[in-house]
Amino acid sequence: AQSGMKDAFEKSFHIGAALNYRQVNGQETKALDVLEKHFNSITGENLMKWGPIHPELDKFNFEPVDKYVALGEKLNAFIVGHTLVWHSQTPDWVFEDSDKNLLEKDALIKRMEDHIEAVVGRYKGRVNGWDVVNEAIFDDGNMRTSKWYNAAGKDFIKRAFIKANQIDPEAELYYNDYNMWKPEKRNTAIALAKELRAEGIRIDGIGMQGHYGLESPTIEQIEASIIAISEAGFKVMFTELDIDVLPNPANRSGADIDATFASDEKYNPFKDGLPQEMQEKLAKRYGELFALFNKHSDKITRITFWGIHDGGSWLNNWPMRGRTAYPLPFDRNYDEKSDVIKEIIES
Ligand code: XIL
Repeated sequence: AQSGMKDAFEKSFHIGAALNYRQVNGQETKALDVLEKHFNSITGENLMKWGPIHPELDKFNFEPVDKYVALGEKLNAFIVGHTLVWHSQTPDWVFEDSDKNLLEKDALIKRMEDHIEAVVGRYKGRVNGWDVVNEAIFDDGNMRTSKWYNAAGKDFIKRAFIKANQIDPEAELYYNDYNMWKPEKRNTAIALAKELRAEGIRIDGIGMQGHYGLESPTIEQIEASIIAISEAGFKVMFTELDIDVLPNPANRSGADIDATFASDEKYNPFKDGLPQEMQEKLAKRYGELFALFNKHSDKITRITFWGIHDGGSWLNNWPMRGRTAYPLPFDRNYDEKSDVIKEIIES
């Protein structure tokens, strides 16, 4: 392709990529070349999560994020902050007092607000949109019983949005989650967002992560969520898009998620390369997804891929470690998968 993905969709939505520290730190120049050509939005893959940025009560790790934000500004990119409040990658100390007893609601919310003030405040006017709350809803539509929810109910969500708005009234504020194509889950997310708005709390958009397979979810399922979110009055974005071609052993427990399975042909079938037939399926799937995104370009503000190239994808290590995954539009040599890029750009 002559021009990049970002040019192809310039009039529709931003095209983003999640970045890791090596990339932000300039150690992966080939990734940065791809970034510059194809992307006009960035998300920190891990850099801004609570554990990495705020590992101890009085310790912040801002240096990687300073570099991340500076890179985004240099590229004139739409800079996403991921994420302020989440149940995962959040240290235990956050929920405990100095005797390791669980904090009461008010103390926990105060701690959350202080965190938001420090992080959003430091990048005020520079980070363009925040995933304020990530993954607070279970797939069945019930609220996730996380340490946040157990201590504070839905108030932790409301107070997080209130605080983020107070600290940076210009930044967009989002709720973000996976499996948002499931009606029960999406309906709860929309109801939650409406409830916030009804109470005068600002929330601008709902992010669907978009960790998809080749077959599931269907285009119709995804489309129903785009329409429902937009009709409710919220911006729609796909925040962590990738397409896993590997078998997902759904019934495996956490204990199974280790390298023993990756050495098994059955779970890691393409370690010597992706067969042509699978490659074609991947390109076709991306083409169908982008045709859908184009159809609803008036509702969608951003499509972010969860990584730049296959070698850096989290799917090499999830749901089990040490596999060879092929989810992204660029291969392990940082080369364009020309058929995938063509399908996307000509969609
Ligand atoms: C993942 C990162 O890609 C991994 O490097 C890390 O080990 C775990 O988190 N939903 C999210 C992302 O919102 O933050 C997750 O990112 C993937 C699932």
